[in-house]
Amino acid sequence: MAESSTHPLGPPLPDGIVPAEVVARTEKRWIILMAAMLLIMMAIVVVTGIAGALHPPSNVEVIDPTTLHLQGEFAESNLGTAVEPDGSVTVRIIAEQYDFVPHCVQVPVGTPVKFRLTSADVVHGFLLPETNVNTMVVPGFVAEVRTSFTTRGEYAMPCHEFCGLGHHAMWAHVSVVPKERFANLTYLERTRCASQ
Ligand code: CUA
Repeated sequence: MAESSTHPLGPPLPDGIVPAEVVARTEKRWIILMAAMLLIMMAIVVVTGIAGALHPPSNVEVIDPTTLHLQGEFAESNLGTAVEPDGSVTVRIIAEQYDFVPHCVQVPVGTPVKFRLTSADVVHGFLLPETNVNTMVVPGFVAEVRTSFTTRGEYAMPCHEFCGLGHHAMWAHVSVVPKERFANLTYLERTRCASQ
């Protein structure tokens, strides 16, 4: 019956029935459209990944979240902005309900900056707008993001992973200052944004 109904000389199809070849043609167009959209989106991912260094943090590094403050890299005395021998800067921050520790850091403009973050409790998020810095901060893991700030300014950004009742009040502050000024900052000024 299906065969006779599609034959050109066959009886016309009842109202509301779409001929099989029309269905096949429409499906083919949709498949082409979807494949094109997928290709465009894949291209956007690849281009922004290469051109803007926008990509998920790729290192997997584990750490014991229960002893962060007591020993190792994230001990309290080791947090904040540290200057490396090659002139680059490493910033170590702990995210916890509901603050970043330290709350505010200063970094020099036009210098490679490596952020290393970890969480003491639940999943938090760290994002600096208009940069490639955007990472989840997961307890038990160290999130590492590298960037270089091209303009001076203040970056304030709330934690962007819902982490509890105080989530909306959890802000990170990064202050990007001229190189000469950064060189003259004391450890406390670099690390706490304390003005002295
Ligand atoms: Cu921490 Cu939301």
